[in-house]
Order: sequence, then structure tokens, then C-alpha cells
Amino acid sequence: MAKIIKIEGNTVFIGTDDWKLLEINKNDCVFEPVFGAEVEVYSNETKTIVIKKESPKLLVPAENNNIIEIKKDVIDRPILYYGISENMKKNFSKYVEITGEPKLIIEQDDNLKDFPEKRLFDKYDIVSLDEALECHPDAVIWVTYLYANNTAKRLLKRIEPERIKFLKADLEYRKGCSFLGHFIDYRVDNFSPCCVSGNSQVKTSGTIAERMAHWERHIRQLIDDIKNGRPTKCDNCRYLKEGFWPKKVWLDYICFATNHPGDVCNLRCSYCFVEKRFKDLNSGDKEGYTTYETIQQLSQMPEYNRPDVCIELSNGEFCANKDCDEIFDVLFKTKWKVRFVTNMTIYKEKFAEFLKTGRTTNVLTSLDAGTPETYKAIKKVDCFNKVIENMKRYPLQDVDFKLKYIFLDGVNDNETDVDGFYNIVKDVGCKTIFISSDRCKPFTEKIRELVVRLIKKAKQDGIRIAKSSYIASQDDIFIDNIINDVE
Ligand SMILES: C[S@@+](CC[C@H](N)C(=O)[O-])C[C@H]1O[C@@H](n2cnc3c(N)ncnc32)[C@H](O)[C@@H]1O
Ligand code: SF4
Repeated sequence: MAKIIKIEGNTVFIGTDDWKLLEINKNDCVFEPVFGAEVEVYSNETKTIVIKKESPKLLVPAENNNIIEIKKDVIDRPILYYGISENMKKNFSKYVEITGEPKLIIEQDDNLKDFPEKRLFDKYDIVSLDEALECHPDAVIWVTYLYANNTAKRLLKRIEPERIKFLKADLEYRKGCSFLGHFIDYRVDNFSPCCVSGNSQVKTSGTIAERMAHWERHIRQLIDDIKNGRPTKCDNCRYLKEGFWPKKVWLDYICFATNHPGDVCNLRCSYCFVEKRFKDLNSGDKEGYTTYETIQQLSQMPEYNRPDVCIELSNGEFCANKDCDEIFDVLFKTKWKVRFVTNMTIYKEKFAEFLKTGRTTNVLTSLDAGTPETYKAIKKVDCFNKVIENMKRYPLQDVDFKLKYIFLDGVNDNETDVDGFYNIVKDVGCKTIFISSDRCKPFTEKIRELVVRLIKKAKQDGIRIAKSSYIASQDDIFIDNIINDVE
């Protein structure tokens, strides 16, 4: 296996898995060489051929190739392993064949206590990352985990990406974000590869299967464009960052976040960005599938009915949807996990039942107030106490339940509401507070003071703080700094 690792002018650089760098002329390529493409390289003394992996007929006759040994310095560097697991122990000798003998094994600080002998196989020292880099500051670290995203992030803070390698994880170093490649915001006549950028909508139509296939084509192209520096809608997104991201496009999050025909809501929140669409979608015949029809069809497609797929219901108020019970009947039959975004004003027996299945990723409720008066002023309906009653009635004890506060200038930016909200968080046993602004509107000084107040209280009680993506970037940094200062 080999890969196109760089394209410079007319020269294509291919890295092979036996640590060679092959240069071929772009004009010799029968296929369009793209960064990251997997190829196969065969060579003897006189001839080298490069084959594009998915299209074996496309041969590149690259006879005068310049093959040089690469990264001699990397090869000569000490090898360290990161992470001990049963699987790693079982495959150890296979790994050594691939990488060469490791000098030692790194374990996460919290896990070191599990290895009192500090030795693996009576041969390799087990040490912390700090200790390892002190002994071998120039080492190449091979991560043994299958899921290595957090480890990769941790390592990137200490060493260059070229020195981080993966034995099992399917990660590559490129620009990416936590949505790209696995997330679809499914809408009535378009989709988006994330739920952040309003300008990333892609018009689509046809059957549900055709729309999903369209998403996949679009995403492959988008990732390829980003890798190759071609302009894309993602270019100025603050979430697009260099890092290790999955190589594979693999849909595992299907989000219903804007309204579909038939979607309704029983509240009229002053800030709601989808509220005006309820009228459009329910005035006469509207083309497009209802949420129920879409979910029902998706559930019958084995490629999407998988236990690693999460469905997010945050369109309209699903408990007020006329098909609510039928939607739950479908959910019960699938393998999906589900994230619910609900205003909690309505109690539904089937929702309560679903919460007991252990398949709820989380439940998010935007309370935004600490008093019935403020709640009514924002939501236009007087049901603050009903919401609190429902939060206690639903079996949320074993569910990741989050309460949101959207700070609204001159409406809920006062101590009475913030403290009232915090008391409810504690009263209902909520473990995470979700801080938001109204669609990225920058926080005022007064709001910032209240944010600090909320974070300090939460810290004392061990309640987590999460941030919505609708926060202005300067406030995002502000919240991170407060969280770090308080810690
Ligand atoms: C449109 S609502 C639909 C789900 C449900 N009815 C609810 O209110 O939780 C989905 C989410 O969008 C959030 N939202 C709506 N308008 C917003 C705005 N202008 N700024 C930030 N978040 C907003 C709500 O707080 C809610 O968490
Ligand atoms: S409850 Fe949700 S959907 Fe309904 S108006 Fe409020 S934010 Fe919008």
C-alpha cells in the first residue's frame, strides 16, 4: 500500500509503506493524482509502476522514477508505543514486525497505577508521556488504540504530526472538523455537512437513498478539495483545524434540525430561528417527506440502521408532532442511538419508555430562564412549572441530560434568573449546563459577569459546562479561559 503524500507543481510524491519516497511526473499519470489517494507501487531494478487502487487498469509507466530512501532520520529514531490493552498484548509481535522493537511503552497518567510492576512482558518499561519524552525527545510514537482521536490531540501538543503513527486507528493528518465526513444535517430540500455554517447548504432532491448518496459524493469531494487547498465553503470556518481526522467517510450522525412538512411547535420562543418556517411548512400541500416518513424509510435501509448511528431530533417540538408516537414506534425497532432536543413542555409515555432503553445519547432542553415570568416573556406560553414537573417525571437519572441557557440581552441577563436557573439544574439532577447566545450575538459585559457567576457555581458542585456552537468566537475563548481559571 502506498499513498500520494504531496503534489508539487508537476511532481507527485508517493510514500510507500516500506519507507520509500517515490517521485513521479504528474504528466505520466493516467489518472488525476490527488493528495491522499491510495495507490499500489510495484518495482524491480528497471521498472516501476503505480496503480490507482480503485482502478487497477490505470497504470502509470514511470520508468525513470527517482526512488529515494525517505525519512532516514525517522527510521533511526527510537520507537515508542502508546497504550496498553488486551488487544495490543495479543498483537504485540505483529506490531513489532511492522514498526521495529519499541524502547518502552507509554500509558496515560491515570492508568499507570494499573501497572504496579511498571513492566510489560517483563521486558518493556511502562512510563508516562512526560517521562518517555524526557528519555527519548526525538522518538516516533505508535499509538495502539483503535479509537485514538483524544490521544492524537494530546500527542500533537507535544510532538510533530510526522512522529505520530497509528497501528489500528484510521486517522490521517489534514484539515478537518468534528462534523466533516460523518454528519448530515438532513433538510427538506437540501443538506449540510455540519450544523455550523449557514452557507454550507447543498440543494438536493429525489428519494431518501438518492439524497444520502448525494451527501456521500459531496463530502468526498469537499474533503479532497480541502486537502488540496482548493477553495470551499469551509475555508473561513473557525472549526476547520489541522489535526488527525478519520480517513474514511462514514455517516454516523443524522440530524433533523430544521423543519419538515408537518413539523410543529407549541411554543413561540422570541429568538427561535426556525419559528417562521412552521407557517411556511404547514400552509397547504408542501412537497417533501415528513420527519416520520424520512425516519421510517431510513430505518428500513440496513446501511443506516446501525447501532453506531445517532439520530438527532431537534426539529420543531417532536412531542407536539402528530406522528410522535409512530416516530417512537420506529425508533424502538431500530438499533439507533437518539439525541433529543425538546422544550419538555409535553409528557409522552413513549418518550419516557425510550429513555429507559439506554439508547439515548443525550437530552437537551433550552430553559433560558429561572422564573415563570421570564420564561413566559421568552416563550410566549406560561408553562415554566410544567417543564420542571416533566423534568422530574421523565426517567432522566441515567440519561445525559443538559439544560441550556441562551443569554438574551435585557431579558434574562439578571442574577434572579441565572440563580433560579442554577437552582433548577441542581433540583432536577442535571449534570451539564449548556451556555449559548442568540445566534452568535456577542455577550455584553453584564452577560459575561453572569457567565462567570454560573461557571463558578457549577464548578463548586461538579456540574459540567458545555458551549453551544452559537457563541461568538471571542466569547467561546472567554468561556474556556474562565473554565481554566476556575480549575
Ligand atoms: C429549534 S429548537 C427545536 C427543538 C425544541 N423545540 C427545543 O426548543 O428544544 C432546537 C434548538 O435550537 C435552539 N435555538 C433556536 N433558536 C436559536 C437561536 N436564535 N440561537 C441559539 N439557539 C437557538 C433552541 O434553543 C433549541 O435548543
Ligand atoms: S420550543 Fe424550540 S422550536 Fe419551539 S419556538 Fe422554541 S426554540 Fe423554536
